[in-house]
Amino acid sequence: MKSNSRSIVRGGSPLSGLDAWEEDLLRRYPEADNKRDEDAFRDYEDETRPGVKEFYRLNHHRQTLQFAQGKKAQYLGLNRRRMTVWEALEFLNELIDDSDPDIDLPQIEHLLQTAEAIRADGHPRWFILVGLIHDLGKILCLFGEEQWAVVGDTFPLGCRFSEKIVFHEFFAGNPDRGVAKYSTPAGIYREGCGLDSVTMSWGHDEYLFHVVKDRLPEPALYMIRYHSFYAAHREGEYGSLMNDRDREMFSWVRAFNPYDLYTKSGQRMDVAALRPFYEELISEYLPGELSW
Ligand SMILES: [Fe+2]
Ligand SMILES: [Fe+2]
Repeated sequence: MKSNSRSIVRGGSPLSGLDAWEEDLLRRYPEADNKRDEDAFRDYEDETRPGVKEFYRLNHHRQTLQFAQGKKAQYLGLNRRRMTVWEALEFLNELIDDSDPDIDLPQIEHLLQTAEAIRADGHPRWFILVGLIHDLGKILCLFGEEQWAVVGDTFPLGCRFSEKIVFHEFFAGNPDRGVAKYSTPAGIYREGCGLDSVTMSWGHDEYLFHVVKDRLPEPALYMIRYHSFYAAHREGEYGSLMNDRDREMFSWVRAFNPYDLYTKSGQRMDVAALRPFYEELISEYLPGELSW
């Protein structure tokens, strides 16, 4: 069990640290149990720590279509900072309180562990790069966003909330639940319209997608944009909003997910030794400063 010592330097959020949601995902989707049954799902909710539960409550109450549209308008002008990818990695590390560095890993090490595991399996270079950068959108916390608007499962807005979304019952407190046109499976969307037309709940996935969207191969962009969309990539929901392209590309999202979930270890990464390889990889696809 990890300590609670590594916490975001920001008040008003229930998680003990930025990693707490991801650590909890491991309880929901244990590595050896890719096909858990409904009973296991219920047990999961019973056993969830109060802080994590409160996090989901806030997320499910407050992620409305209007909220996500507002955040897109606020952030997707990408006019906050100019930073290289490596500078963004270092910026992300500022997010956390390093009071107990022996127990918890800095964000950069989760990203390097993910990338190194992808590299060890012989995947293409752009896939390794996704491992390195996929959580960089969490710098939203440094721009003042609370955890429930940065991490957590993502889901479509403007249509019915799937019952397969974790802590589905908390959507009873979401104002969109009372809007008739959002209450059908397709809601405001046309069936088969494709996920690119769908407004997702706001978080680090969507934000980073927009930072890199013109510069990486399409499978890489899907992995980045939908890696927290567990209702789709693990539960098979929202197929009626997808088009054939989405279905094809989600095989990549699913290929990425085990590297995200199951490569965390206490083993420290030698950041300085790995840096030359990754700097070269970054310069191949995302050279220079990016707009954030
Ligand atoms: Fe993530
Ligand atoms: Fe991650």
